[in-house]
Amino acid sequence: LNRGFLFADGVYELLRTYNKKLFRYDDHFDRLKFSLEELNLKVPDKKKLTNIIAELVSLNQLEENNFSVYIQITRGSDFKRQHKFPALNIDQTLMIWLTPISPDRLENENGIKAITHEDLRWQRCDIKSILLLPNILAKQKAIEQDATEALLIRDGYVMEGSHTNLFIIPDGVIKTPPLSNYVLKGITRKVILELCTGSGMIVKEEKISLDELLSANEIFLTGTSTEVKPVIELSGQKIGSGMPGKVTRKVQQLFYNYINEY
Ligand code: PDD
Repeated sequence: LNRGFLFADGVYELLRTYNKKLFRYDDHFDRLKFSLEELNLKVPDKKKLTNIIAELVSLNQLEENNFSVYIQITRGSDFKRQHKFPALNIDQTLMIWLTPISPDRLENENGIKAITHEDLRWQRCDIKSILLLPNILAKQKAIEQDATEALLIRDGYVMEGSHTNLFIIPDGVIKTPPLSNYVLKGITRKVILELCTGSGMIVKEEKISLDELLSANEIFLTGTSTEVKPVIELSGQKIGSGMPGKVTRKVQQLFYNYINEY
């Protein structure tokens, strides 16, 4: 009778380590806190959560340099299936697991194919809720069309990928859709904005129409496990020369330098 299982009544975070250190932990915790508060769920004590993760790392004796940390919190297990919130004395469920990450960066080297797909998600995509069915269906469509990611289109504008944020390079400048209730506040997106601005590149947070997306010289995706991934083909049409572009390569390099020193 867990409400996560019955109603997708819960939230999650996925973070990872670089050089055995949790990457941008404060940002991930802040986003988790935001997601929980928006859904009237209780926020765990930050120190306690950090200690649990540290304990898991040591119990699992992970030798790998890099691993991902999946955290899920649901509204707990009620005594019967009912839509309304359970009584206040029901404990929330907290689940955390670690997975080693292989350092395979082939896709990031070669680029991937993507498709566009109607954004069928709800109106609170800024909450990292476990309600991911529309994301899964879009991603599966991409896989069935020999692509890797689906870029979600709402009212003629691209929002983000099924599990990634996106950037385009129309003409030298870098553009990414602005944050809204239809876009997840990606931590990698934030890092990329910081790195690009810091190195003097011009980045604009502006709405991107489907036409602009299709005619972009370069497109790349960002995410915790995705890092910076070039899109070389969109719905069967080549992006730029059909190879990862110059600006994307520069952004990748900035990102790799940053994580290597993290
Ligand atoms: N996905 N947009 C969506 C819809 C996402 O699910 C994610 C992350 C991102 C990128 O956010 P970040 O840079 O903070 O990882 C953007 C996670 C990794 C997942 O569901 O596996």
